[in-house]
This record gives sequence, C-alpha cells and structure tokens, in this order.
Amino acid sequence: MSRYLVTGGAGFIGSHLVDRLLAQGDRVRVLDDFSTGKTANLGEDRKGLETVQACVTSEPDIAAAVVGIDGIFHLAALPSVARSVVAPLETHHINATGGLNILNQARKSGVKVVFAGSSSAYGDQEAEYKSEELREDPLSPYAASKLAGELYCRSFARVYDLPVVVTRFFNVYGPRQVPDSPYSGVIAAFCLAMLRGEAPRIDGDGRQSRDFTYVEDVTRAMTMAMKKSFAGPVTMNIACGESHDLLEMLSILKDYSGSSREPEYATARTGDVRHSLADMALAEKMLDFKAEVSFREGLERTYDWYKREYS
Ligand code: UD1
Repeated sequence: MSRYLVTGGAGFIGSHLVDRLLAQGDRVRVLDDFSTGKTANLGEDRKGLETVQACVTSEPDIAAAVVGIDGIFHLAALPSVARSVVAPLETHHINATGGLNILNQARKSGVKVVFAGSSSAYGDQEAEYKSEELREDPLSPYAASKLAGELYCRSFARVYDLPVVVTRFFNVYGPRQVPDSPYSGVIAAFCLAMLRGEAPRIDGDGRQSRDFTYVEDVTRAMTMAMKKSFAGPVTMNIACGESHDLLEMLSILKDYSGSSREPEYATARTGDVRHSLADMALAEKMLDFKAEVSFREGLERTYDWYKREYS
C-alpha cells in the first residue's frame, strides 16, 4: 500500500486515477481547488481518500499536502488551447508556476513526481508520428505553459536528482470530461450536442486529426510510470497510437446514437494543431504499455455515460 497525492484529483483524468489507486488498495490525498473539478467525481465517504481544497500555486498548502506522501501525480492544470489564447497569464500561473511549486515541494521531501505533460508540445510539425526526440515547438500559450512545466521537470531531475516522469497525453477523452463549457474537449462537446438534439460545431473543415486516448488507458500508464524506476528524467508519449479526424469521429457517434443532426461549421481556431499522432515506441519499450481501449469502444462507453448523466 502506498500513499499518493493527486493534484487535480477531482477533475476529469484525476478522478479516474483516484478510482484506480483506491481500487488497488492505495491511499490517496486529493488536492483540488474545485474550479473545474467536482466533488461528485470523487463519490462520498470512500475508504482511503482524503480531500484538500487548495490551489497548486499555494506554497504552504502544497508543503502541507506532501507530508507523509510516497509519490505525487500532478494533474492540476487549466486546460484548453482556446482559453489560453484568451487568458495566457492565468494559464501560465496555474500550469507553469503551479507545476514548479509542486516540483519544488517534491524535491524538498524527495518524493517522485509523475507529471501530466501535453502532446501540444509538438505543435504543428511535419513529422507524421510525434516522437519524443522531436524538438518541441509549442504553438499556443497552453502548449508553452505545459512545456514550461516539463522543462522544470528535466531541470529538477538533473539538478536535485528528483525522480520524475513526464507522461505526454494525447487528447484524452471519456466519462466526466466537462461537456458544457466553451472550452470543452471536442468528444465531450459532441456527445452533449447530440443528446440535446443540437448541431455539433466543427471549427475548421473537420479534417484535423487527433490521437484520441481513452482515459482509463491514461491512468493505467500513469500508475505504471510511478512504479517503475528510471535513471534520469524521462518524457514519454501516452496515447492510443491511432489517427482519427473529427468527421470520422462524428460519423461513429452519429451511427451509435442514431442522431441525424448535421454539424455546423465555424472558422478554425487560432493556435490549433492540424494533425497529432503519437509515436508510441518509447512507452512500449520503457513501460510495456499499449492502449487497450479501441476508439470505437471508448466512444461508445463515453456516449453511454453522457446519456446516463445528461438526458
Ligand atoms: C489540446 C492538446 C491536448 C490537451 C488539450 C487540453 C493538441 C494536439 N492537443 O487539445 O493534448 O489535452 O489541448 O485542453 O495540442 N473542436 C471543434 N468543435 C468543438 C470543440 C473542438 O471543432 O466543439 C476542434 C478544435 O478546434 C480542435 C479539435 O476539435 O481542432 C480538438 O479540440 P480540443 O478537444 O479542444 O483539443 P485540442 O485543442 O486538440
């Protein structure tokens, strides 16, 4: 049994990670400011779960939260490329400064960190498969803020010998992703639009593609990364390893839900990446990780969840 701190533990990915850790018998301290996270994601009175309401940028709160902890999963962040274009300073404050604060407290207590990085670090490069060896080329302020956190991870591993693994996520989706914010991820937004009988909105031509990754594959990879020891800093892609464009995703969802609503088209977003597909060789080699949930299966599970919760 280990005791972990999960920052952003009441959020979409964080709460799935909490479920996994509790199910394997670990103890969990969640730190969340509940700005986008929800208490409902955590359930009630769960054995082994403790919750602290605080922001990742607060030094005293993080110092207190790491006491007695064996490892930190750092997931707290202000997501969304689009929001970061509107609010770059706020995005930097939470993602970059917050990340640095976590690393700083981790090195003081010598606690390993698994740090949630983002595929946005690769930007819009030509290479079809985004390999960790590529030079990063962040496009949006969101991408820059997440990459800043990654760079601090590398620095802290070298300067303080801090054990740290950056898991670079590629468009994670699944139950509990907020569907009704202007900054919602596309699969969550499309599921909700269909359930409400509204037209899904496609920004651009719909031919932009993503390596959509089901949330439970992501949390499994994170726990594997925590358990394994590495020499020096490690950054690895965590993804499904498949490319799907928005039109294809929409057609699977329409098929499954029986919706006949045609999409509306809007102009492509500033800072948007055209194609994003992971090279998964490193995670396969270092963690023996392979995604297990197929795209169709993940979409069906996700749609079913929104149907239960929102109709
Ligand atoms: C980016 C990152 C991802 C990160 C996420 C955090 C890349 C390639 N991916 O996701 O790793 O987790 O930020 O927020 O940088 N769209 C629509 N209609 C909608 C919503 C979105 O057409 O209603 C479009 C967007 O313009 C975009 C695509 O769908 O082209 C995906 O958007 P979104 O789900 O917001 O994620 P990314 O910005 O790709």
